Amino acid sequence: MSLCFGRLLLLFVLFSLASALEKDEVYRRNLLTNGLAMTPPIGWNSWNHFNCLIDEKMIRETADALVQTGLSKLGYKYVNIDDCWAELNRDSKGHLVPRKSTFPSGIKALADYVHSKGLKLGIYSDAGYMTCSKTMPGSLGYEEIDAKTFASWGIDYLKYDNCNNDGSKPTVRYPVMTRALMNAGRQIFFSLCEWGDMHPALWGAKVGNSWRTTNDIADNWESMVSRADMNEVYAELARPGGWNDPDMLEVGNGGMTNDEYITHFSIWAISKAPLLIGCDVRNITKETMEIIGNKEVIAVNQDPLGVQAKKVRMEGDLEIYAGPLSGYKTVVLLVNRSRIESQITANWDDIGLPPHTVVKARDLWRHETLNHTFKDKLMAKMDSHACRMFVLMPIA
Ligand code: GAL
Repeated sequence: MSLCFGRLLLLFVLFSLASALEKDEVYRRNLLTNGLAMTPPIGWNSWNHFNCLIDEKMIRETADALVQTGLSKLGYKYVNIDDCWAELNRDSKGHLVPRKSTFPSGIKALADYVHSKGLKLGIYSDAGYMTCSKTMPGSLGYEEIDAKTFASWGIDYLKYDNCNNDGSKPTVRYPVMTRALMNAGRQIFFSLCEWGDMHPALWGAKVGNSWRTTNDIADNWESMVSRADMNEVYAELARPGGWNDPDMLEVGNGGMTNDEYITHFSIWAISKAPLLIGCDVRNITKETMEIIGNKEVIAVNQDPLGVQAKKVRMEGDLEIYAGPLSGYKTVVLLVNRSRIESQITANWDDIGLPPHTVVKARDLWRHETLNHTFKDKLMAKMDSHACRMFVLMPIA
């Protein structure tokens, strides 16, 4: 009797240990090996501009607009549907059902259309019982079936939110979807959207291809720079395959000045953040196109070295970001967060260049290579909330 009890006790202890380790596996094991995201994802998402007011027609028109404007050629490939695309109830077999009134042709037909334009289709779900809008079910408990459904539709990207969950940790719930995606038979970019709650930068690369480091951005300067600050703390942890995500772009939505949007786009680019356009690209203005269509700034974001720049110096409201690029180049971003025109000096010592290095400087917003060279430092003036962005190329 006591032997039997002893065995039972041992079994119980082993079981508890195994389940504790299983829960912790996210810290030990690389669950995600999909080979995607060697550079940050780049595309469009419906949420920042449209919230729940989405339908298949506007998704198709957005895909058309990405091609017509030339944005797709610049790299913007993902067309990502956010919350509110499904019916409130699953079908009798437990499958998610596209909302009949707004997506009558279904998601597979939409994916076929988007793919025919040379683009990729992204979709949204939630590691809870319902998504944040509460208009559709989440995937908690349905991870396998949903991952298979997404794969069968031809989905290329999944954004996975954190609302209405069972109270367990994201480190327990998110890996379930990682495994389900790995078993679904299609390469699907996995975007973790747990808002930075459990410092996903510390474990995200084992579970997903990007992880939100902040709660939602709003279309104003304060919101944008505070997200940049929260995200910057984790710079060391970004790398090809897994990126810090300070939320999607607001450029073109109207709440910031042109200079502020240029600063927004520049910080996101240098931070190797996902570049997901959040405005209506069907009605894009020339000013917005000039920002999100800046090839040289996109090239910084997509540089193969994949190192997130850091804020290397702050003097009051004046900031210097710097980071290495491939080919021994260095990118420097000077940001004037103050209310007045200011001059910022970047010393080689701050930005990590050896003393006395002589560089040529390319100004990425004025699209000119400056005709004098720089040694030991570079100075520039800028208006309130404006920035200057340079790529430095050593010549001696
Ligand atoms: C939030 C998420 C947003 C958007 C929204 C949809 O949790 O951070 O980016 O997806 O849910 O309801």
